[in-house]
Amino acid sequence: MEFLDKMVLQQSAHHMVLLKYLLVLTLIIFYCYAGLLLGSTFLSLFYKLKSKKLEDSNNSIFSKMLIDLVTFNKSVGFALGIIPIISASFCYAQLLHKTGLDLPEFILIAALIFYFGLGFVYLYKFRMKKNKSSWYFGIISTVLLAVSTLVLIGSTQLAIDSENWKNQNDIISIVLSARTIFSYLHFVVFSLLSASLFFLYKYFRNNSEEEFPSELLRVYSRNQSLKIGLVSVIILPALVLIYIFLKPISSLSFNFFGYAVLALISLLVISVFLYVMIKENKTAYGSKALFFLVLFISIMVIKDQFAFDTATKKHFVVLASEYEEYQKKVQEEFGLLVETINGADIFNGKCVACHQFDKKLVGPPYNETLPKYEGKKEALVQFILNPVKINPDYPPMASQGLKPSEAEAVADYILSTYKK
Ligand code: HEC
Repeated sequence: MEFLDKMVLQQSAHHMVLLKYLLVLTLIIFYCYAGLLLGSTFLSLFYKLKSKKLEDSNNSIFSKMLIDLVTFNKSVGFALGIIPIISASFCYAQLLHKTGLDLPEFILIAALIFYFGLGFVYLYKFRMKKNKSSWYFGIISTVLLAVSTLVLIGSTQLAIDSENWKNQNDIISIVLSARTIFSYLHFVVFSLLSASLFFLYKYFRNNSEEEFPSELLRVYSRNQSLKIGLVSVIILPALVLIYIFLKPISSLSFNFFGYAVLALISLLVISVFLYVMIKENKTAYGSKALFFLVLFISIMVIKDQFAFDTATKKHFVVLASEYEEYQKKVQEEFGLLVETINGADIFNGKCVACHQFDKKLVGPPYNETLPKYEGKKEALVQFILNPVKINPDYPPMASQGLKPSEAEAVADYILSTYKK
């Protein structure tokens, strides 16, 4: 699977820095959206199954409200899900060119699975709207979304781990590595937290009660989302810590730890907001908590990117020097490479074995032969390029295989030097 490798454009060091920024941005957008989608689909399925079992309508309506969270518009899935994940694959293809890693292709596979997952989410939603049996669509979509994000996260983890580039370059070992599993667990908990916070934000922003058919449902859905949010925000820091301890040594840096601390602080702030919301029976802090959640995932992505930087330092030097060679080749092709041809160098390299200015060697001294070329540089250049037999006292001179520009340079040099 190297077809992406063939599409790679040569990058200068500056372009690679830009690509890295682009990668950070696309990953942040993708994780925010995919987390919300996975969390809300999973929770919706959970309450759907619960309502099936208990045969009550509150769980069923709650389940519908959950799936409505992010599926308001189909193009959102493309803009925030499919496009970012495909761009991430292209960024990695460029940045990891020549490493022999297949992970850009793995990410494309993840994009494909995500695409089908998205399709099933909408099927699930529409069947639910029509009160048709829908739970198996919920299961399929949850599984597809979970698998695609797992493959993506596994691939980004392998990118960080340069020591294992050689022996983990297949989907199974990527997905089953301890680091991927913990990193994935923390994404799953993050997705539950984001779904619950977004639910509170969306339905309780104005403290309006119209959205809810009954007060009972209002209280029930509010309590459920607060509970899910609180449990997730308590579990997350532990997962973040384990994840840090599992990082490969080659990718650790001071910045990495700094960002990890910031991530933990933002989780702390979210938990305070959630606590206040529960305690004071107010839900108005939903938007603020969401802000810190976006901050949290951004920090996590940037932190990983620092690890990626550290891990790929050596590789980028290889790419940068390759780029320089490539550029030289292109310049030569278009005749842009200005070679500095130095007549003195050519003389010292090619002529000095047989010629001196004032002494006879194999060939005659220049001081004797050059006066007749005074003002006739063209003739001298022609002789140097195609020597002809001239003086019976000397053997013929062999052609020196110079280019016209080189012959001219050396002619200039000897003509201007012999007089001195
Ligand atoms: C292997 C020895 C050899 C090398 C190397 C050599 N030459 Fe000569 N060159 C000769 C000989 C021998 C002659 C005399 C040829 C003759 O008179 O037929 C000669 C003659 C000349 C002459 C005089 C021509 C004339 O009209 O009388 C010039 C000028 C000259 N060489 C320039 C150069 C330059 C410039 C280079 C280096 C790029 C060079 N040669 C390298 C052997 C050499």
